[in-house]
Amino acid sequence: MCGIVGYIGKNNSKDILLDGLAELEYRGYDSAGIAILETDNIFHSKAVGKLQNLKEKTKDFQIDAFSIGIGHTRWATHGNPTELNAHPHLGEFSYVVHNGIIENYKEIKDSLIAEGVEFLSQTDTEVIVHLYEKNYKQSKDEFEAFKKTLDSLKGAYAILLITKTAQDKIFFAKNGSPMIIGTNSDELFFASSDAPLLGLANEVVYLKDDEYGYATQKEIKLFSNKTPMQIEKKPLVGDKISAQKGGFRFFMEKEIYEQSEVLSDCILGRALDKKVDFEELDENFFDGITHIKICACGTSYHSALATSYLFERVAKISTSVEIASEFRYKEPLLNHETLFIVISQSGETADTLEALKMAKNAGLKTLSICNVDNSSIVREADTSLLARAGIEKGVASTKAFATQVMVLWMLSLYIAEHKKIISKDELDSELKAIKHIPKVCVVKDTIHQKIRRLSKRYLHGHGFFFIGRDLFFPLALEGALKLKEISYLHAEGYPAGEMKHGPIALADANLFTVALMPKNLHYEKTKSNVEELSARDATILAISPLEFDLSDDFIKTTIQEHPMEEFFEMMVITQLLALEISIRLGNDVDMPRNLAKSVTVE
Ligand code: AGP
Repeated sequence: MCGIVGYIGKNNSKDILLDGLAELEYRGYDSAGIAILETDNIFHSKAVGKLQNLKEKTKDFQIDAFSIGIGHTRWATHGNPTELNAHPHLGEFSYVVHNGIIENYKEIKDSLIAEGVEFLSQTDTEVIVHLYEKNYKQSKDEFEAFKKTLDSLKGAYAILLITKTAQDKIFFAKNGSPMIIGTNSDELFFASSDAPLLGLANEVVYLKDDEYGYATQKEIKLFSNKTPMQIEKKPLVGDKISAQKGGFRFFMEKEIYEQSEVLSDCILGRALDKKVDFEELDENFFDGITHIKICACGTSYHSALATSYLFERVAKISTSVEIASEFRYKEPLLNHETLFIVISQSGETADTLEALKMAKNAGLKTLSICNVDNSSIVREADTSLLARAGIEKGVASTKAFATQVMVLWMLSLYIAEHKKIISKDELDSELKAIKHIPKVCVVKDTIHQKIRRLSKRYLHGHGFFFIGRDLFFPLALEGALKLKEISYLHAEGYPAGEMKHGPIALADANLFTVALMPKNLHYEKTKSNVEELSARDATILAISPLEFDLSDDFIKTTIQEHPMEEFFEMMVITQLLALEISIRLGNDVDMPRNLAKSVTVE
């Protein structure tokens, strides 16, 4: 996710902006930029890669008079990481930075181009500054022009805009992406989170969705729905690391809670009113493809396995899934009618990268689902779909897994639509379920508190089975991996129907079974598998929307219409279960022993 900073005051705005962006590096980025307005002069600079590159480029620029400035670290969602795509984006006399996704940017861009506006970047953000200047030229009133611009935008945004015609003001708007205002006696700051404000501001205003306005050195004018709003200032407390964790105990916990937000980003501009669209894919991308092979490691392998069920069930295309480290040495038979998909959070996993190269060398068309733009895997694949999960700091992957599954689910519908094998009603109900997922993934405090309480019972024993059927078998594998990774307790995921073929011999009171029992997919069959375990005195934690009184612990989920809604709801529960057990065991949840966030060795 991008990072935004803003400044109004008499101190060195360049250093304040750059230091603020440094405090936001944890949000992940691939390019950065600043723009500073000081008595008619606008200074701006952008750089690809690390913030140090921007610091190097701006080292000779000094400012020690009153100025206003904005800065941005970009996490690419539209357009590759290049200087032209980096923010701030400029018009003739204005600059803008933006976090989020403007869903209707294409139609705005097309209409501005038709009026002769020239665009420099591939981004959605650039439409904001050109639309603003068009509105300003008509109204000659900066705030009216800014409000009119906001009225045209659909999607999620946190925006800062500065313009030469109002050299003491920063215009701001917040809807769906975070934005905070910080103040002290004679300076005013903007930031995407608390971290850049610590040590500078002593009070903060936490903006709410649909709030917008403008700020000067001494005052904030805040509006919502054209109504002036009361400014509610709160004292700013805390340290930088806890600020980066947003008050959570671990980055992993924060990232579990972020899943709702990043899934909204992930589907924006893709799950549309009547169809799924991927602007990265041209119309005939799947022409001639009769088989899909998905290759990955670890959690990414689990998202591949889960969605392989959807590719066959929904897109009616034969699909196989490979563990990259196995695929590399099995002398696989590959043909040109196979689309080779690799999945990777980091985009740097050695086994997955080498498998991708093998497929390319064999002449296959390749596609990557990745969370880091410009990574080795993104650069190697013919085409890439970004997960848009934002930086994932916890070694145990959570939000990346969620967005991988979401992208692949949408891709299965995209293929079905292009093959004309899905009805309008079916597609509508799938799109309805997709758009409901961000809400499904909002962590319910009652559920989290229940998991925190019951986790004390699962700190010993001779291991865990996570069991499920169909889509829920890969989710069982993922739940087991999460637990293993951060609690160091043994756990394995198993197809529920397979337990009677051997593993049930392990069943006793010290064998903990986490049973995923969705209502909408083979409930009765899964239930009878769990009853077989219960009859042998296994200790069972059942997760289901339907009451099940043969378990020792029971987490009731919501009655949903679609199995994927149940999938995502149970995903959050298994993530929280691993988190709370690990915390009780006193482990370092974010940096588990023996593990690395990116496995760049074979
Ligand atoms: C996930 O929790 C693990 N940290 C690990 O299995 C990871 O999924 C695997 O190493 C693959 O990483 P990638 O997605 O970055 O390729």
